[in-house]
Amino acid sequence: MSPIFRIVSPNFQGMGIGLLYGQSPASLRNGRPLGYPVQREMSELETNLAGLEKILLGGPKIAVLTGAGISAESGIPTFRGEDGLWKKHRAEELATPQAFYHAPALVWEWYDWRRGIIASKEPNAGHRALVRWERYFPHFVLITQNVDGLHRRAGSQNVLELHGNIWEVRCTREGTITENYESPLNPIPPLCPACGAMLRPNVVWFGESLPAETLEEAYAASASCDLMFVIGTSAFVQPAASLPLLAAERGVPIVEVNPQPTPLTASADFVFRGRAGDVLPLIDERLPAGSTGG
Ligand code: OAD
Repeated sequence: MSPIFRIVSPNFQGMGIGLLYGQSPASLRNGRPLGYPVQREMSELETNLAGLEKILLGGPKIAVLTGAGISAESGIPTFRGEDGLWKKHRAEELATPQAFYHAPALVWEWYDWRRGIIASKEPNAGHRALVRWERYFPHFVLITQNVDGLHRRAGSQNVLELHGNIWEVRCTREGTITENYESPLNPIPPLCPACGAMLRPNVVWFGESLPAETLEEAYAASASCDLMFVIGTSAFVQPAASLPLLAAERGVPIVEVNPQPTPLTASADFVFRGRAGDVLPLIDERLPAGSTGG
């Protein structure tokens, strides 16, 4: 398997960020530095919305890549923010096959804790806007790095879950995948009801391959869309972070929705520096009635 199919995040925090946030030409958008005065950003919001509206009304083929940021307003911690999971926990000890081999109970306790948090939360306005867009646009593909299942709970039908789903378990002996919503889990680690072997979370850990078919569909969508949204991801983890580049290389407009700059900002044509739950409904309002009210 080529390395591009494996999940990679340099030192789990994102090495090389300084290069991309510097004052190199890549950090200039429309010839201005990223740290632009807030007042001027207000009118840029209107310009962005108007420009995007024109494209949306043309009925483009849309691909969307989401990350933990879209679930942040639901109360689910992100990975690399100030209160991010990787600030308090070491990915090497919790999200690698080696960690699971050495300490399956510890790994499962962490996933059990996360499942408990997610179970108590609801999808937000950002997730709901994407449900409406799926119904409105004939060509719409939603790709997510999130394992929380909130897109589906909101009502999205076709979701490409690149990193798996925390509500699925996989038998370590037979490979059988089943849904499991028990929270808290008992026992930990949970055992396969069919063969008694240990179950593992059906998520992708660092160093593991992404589900091949899902990744292929995500590449195909990114390589054929006319417009790509990148919402709530720090764009540090490969191969997900390279998907928008496939679109950008073809001259396809990229829309970034994120309160913070990312390595993809320099490739974005529309940058919305805001929260997904605020920005996506504003974009949604620009669509003719019929996409709304879902
Ligand atoms: P990160 O935690 O790395 O990044 C979250 C991004 O969301 C940041 O860029 C934030 O600025 C942004 N953000 C925060 N609140 C937001 C909001 N309300 N609206 C929009 N954006 C917001 O999460 P991911 O990029 O998803 O993988 O991380 C990718 C992968 O790294 C995860 O799937 C996970 C992690 O390690 C594995 O565990 C395999």
